[in-house]
Amino acid sequence: MPLPKAELHLHIEGTLEPELAFELAARNGVELPYADTEELRKAYQFEDLQSFLNLYYELMAVLRTEQDFADLTDAYLARAAAQGVRHAEIFFDPQAHTKRGLELGTVVEGLWRALERSEARHGVSTRLIMCFLRDDSAESAMATLRAAEPYLDRITGIGLDSAEVGHPPVKFREVYEAAAALGLRRVAHAGEEGPPAYITEALDVLGVERVDHGLRCVEDPALVERLVRERVPLTLCPLSNVRLRTVDTLADHPLPAMLDAGLLCTVNSDDPAYFGGYAGDNFDAVRQTLGLTGERLRELARNSFLASFLEDDEERRAR
Ligand code: HPA
Ligand code: ZN
Repeated sequence: MPLPKAELHLHIEGTLEPELAFELAARNGVELPYADTEELRKAYQFEDLQSFLNLYYELMAVLRTEQDFADLTDAYLARAAAQGVRHAEIFFDPQAHTKRGLELGTVVEGLWRALERSEARHGVSTRLIMCFLRDDSAESAMATLRAAEPYLDRITGIGLDSAEVGHPPVKFREVYEAAAALGLRRVAHAGEEGPPAYITEALDVLGVERVDHGLRCVEDPALVERLVRERVPLTLCPLSNVRLRTVDTLADHPLPAMLDAGLLCTVNSDDPAYFGGYAGDNFDAVRQTLGLTGERLRELARNSFLASFLEDDEERRAR
């Protein structure tokens, strides 16, 4: 039995496996510039975040209809459940779809079609987090937030993703203020490729409750001390860090030192179709390569529920 856990850092578009990409391409008459799944898989060699994002956005072209988003999400939930995920807080990138001409409603209703039956079908409770692309303008993010207002019963929170360096959190101050006024929970990617100062800014300017990645906090001892003191959860993604070369090898990952420092770390999969594994695979990898003990693994699983947006009673049931 895999350890029951919550997945808190998962981009639904990053769960698009090559097989499903080709199936959807055929269904929708979309031409992919790869002969087959094998050739596509060969493209999964990344230099950095941007080289991954280029492929990630390119492959999204196969997602066209509500049913496509439902099929993608249902396939993810089945895989996650098999690896012990009992609760998933799922990111999606609305602007990546609306800029290709899709309606926001197509995306949200499609995701919802799978999410609304997830507990019954997979035993996985879910939340939806709408991310803004930080390399797009703040005006576009604000327009997206306004367009999402009819769907807010389905959306728990907002996040910030895509190319980090050069796009500091402060750029989205007003959007986060508006989201807070709507009662939305707030998270943001910070300190993946960007400097530790972006983590501080995400906390102080955007009011985030969790930091996605946050890995580069280790470069700033005063920041580590603050994150420990304020019990700020970090949603780490070890296999992603290796594939995007934010760490040299998994053996060099600072996760054990971060746990020793008292940081509230969680282990997540980010974009599992691209980075070599789902939540359980990430747990297996850190157990095998970083030698984490059973107690440390249980702490990570416990942290994942603590850091989730589940209410206390739901949290107990999910564990
Ligand atoms: N970082 C930033 N943006 C992203 C990622 C990531 O790892 N995955 C999908 N969008
Ligand atoms: Zn991410």
